Amino acid sequence: MKKVKQNLADELEEALGAEVNLNDIEVPDGEHGDFAYPAMKAASELGDSPRNIAEKAKDTLEELDFVEKIEIAGPGYVNFFLDKKFYAEKVFETVDSEDMGVEQKDGNALVEFSSPNLAKPMHVGHLRNNVLGDSIQRMMRFAGYDVTSENYIGDWGTKHGQVIYGYKLWGDEQKFHEAPMDHMYELYVKLNQEADEEMQETAREWSKKIEDGDNEAVELWERFRKATIEYNEVDYERMNIHFDRVTGESVVAEHAEELIEEGLEKGIFEKDDDGSVYVEFEDEDLPSTIIKRSDGSTLYLTRDLANIIKRENEGFDYNFYVVATEQNLHFKQLFAVAKQFGVEDIVSEHISYGLLHLEDGSISSSKGNIITLRDVLDEAKEKAEEVDEREIGNAEAVGQGALKYANLSVSRPKDIEFSWDRALSFEGDSGPYLQYSNVRAKSILRKTDADGELAGEFNEEEYRLVKKLGEFPEKVDNAVEARDPAKIANYLSGLSEVFNSFYHSQPVIDSEEEDRKRRVALIENFISVTDKGLDLLGIEALEEM
Ligand code: ARG
Repeated sequence: MKKVKQNLADELEEALGAEVNLNDIEVPDGEHGDFAYPAMKAASELGDSPRNIAEKAKDTLEELDFVEKIEIAGPGYVNFFLDKKFYAEKVFETVDSEDMGVEQKDGNALVEFSSPNLAKPMHVGHLRNNVLGDSIQRMMRFAGYDVTSENYIGDWGTKHGQVIYGYKLWGDEQKFHEAPMDHMYELYVKLNQEADEEMQETAREWSKKIEDGDNEAVELWERFRKATIEYNEVDYERMNIHFDRVTGESVVAEHAEELIEEGLEKGIFEKDDDGSVYVEFEDEDLPSTIIKRSDGSTLYLTRDLANIIKRENEGFDYNFYVVATEQNLHFKQLFAVAKQFGVEDIVSEHISYGLLHLEDGSISSSKGNIITLRDVLDEAKEKAEEVDEREIGNAEAVGQGALKYANLSVSRPKDIEFSWDRALSFEGDSGPYLQYSNVRAKSILRKTDADGELAGEFNEEEYRLVKKLGEFPEKVDNAVEARDPAKIANYLSGLSEVFNSFYHSQPVIDSEEEDRKRRVALIENFISVTDKGLDLLGIEALEEM
């Protein structure tokens, strides 16, 4: 509990005449009190023994109203036992406040995630990206950043000529009308299977035609772009993911071309004998990379460079990319070129993440050769229906909860070994377990009309829950700092465990009035924290399960 820690740090600083920071106050486990202060650092600063300093701290701080008792342990540990009501009051106040105690940041932050390519359905690889990106943008918003979430579609470059050419060869208006994504994808696959060198060349010409603004090419491209966005929208809607804006590589393509001239003039880029343009980096470990092909077309990296400059001009202070680790080198090179271009008002950061491994054969694919994101969402819903014994009909929300938690609870850089059994377990460490604990708390409240109040005395079991609730703001701060929702996910799981043990041992309905009021207050606070925590993970908090 940051507030209380700060309180203690301030009091200690004044009593000892030595610097005491928030981080100097520890949270011991078990019987050693609510907080502990190791006097060793201050002792060496003041040239006294830790034991003496600890004694001094004890004598002065024991006078404080909110300190119940102080014990000295080991070489110079000051262990604080606080007044439980005081502590609970601080926790409840914090939970009740608008920012819930979470450190508030400044600045305009762009959070880019998802960013699928044109004419292809999102696949299982987009699952972790979507879930993580969405949670990160939610977290950052709650931490006070002015967030714009962006879906930057891969809608430019040589690949897109293939779909257009495929359509010219085998396109079927009726099929496109009925199931545009299926048809586009079918054409793309067929072209890649059947195309010889000559056909590939024609496909490249079609890409060039889009870039050159040829009417027919642009018209088809626009249709395919629109169809892709509409198709993906269904998945986003199911996942409750909403973007503040949808852009794409095409938006910055023209600027990318202009940048090549600028880079050459400034001596940042070099021209090769074949007419291609490349960049070399000051950092020798970073391999040089091509910026413009010999046929004149620009590249992914060039467009990303134009995009950073665009975002800087739009006034963003932060530029966050949630993109898989595979693209580490790309982003290192991108940020290095941007620096050479003098971009320095915007802070760019690549937020990468490990792979998700599915159990073999655990999902049947509707597209034959790829597992689409939609296949995964459908499977999750079906599996959740199987466990939804009461048939309440929120299988979609429970399935999503399972998928999202499984993706978020593993720390961001680590790979995930995904298992349906674990993801859907009601026993703990899963999305449904969190949803269920939250629902259980709500259902107790429906059964009592007592108002929550800080009445009577907290027992140990209740106090454990108070303290666990009090960790919420710090956990969110840490998650924001590390750009890692796992810190929130795992905290919520631990909190739910404490809650469930409280629930089993502390009766609410059949209890004395004071106890009931106090327990109702605890339950209300548990609901507030888990509602918010689930919201930050993008997991739906339900009313019934
Ligand atoms: N469209 C790319 C892909 O599917 C991801 C884009 C990531 N964002 C970026 N600004 N480069 O691989």
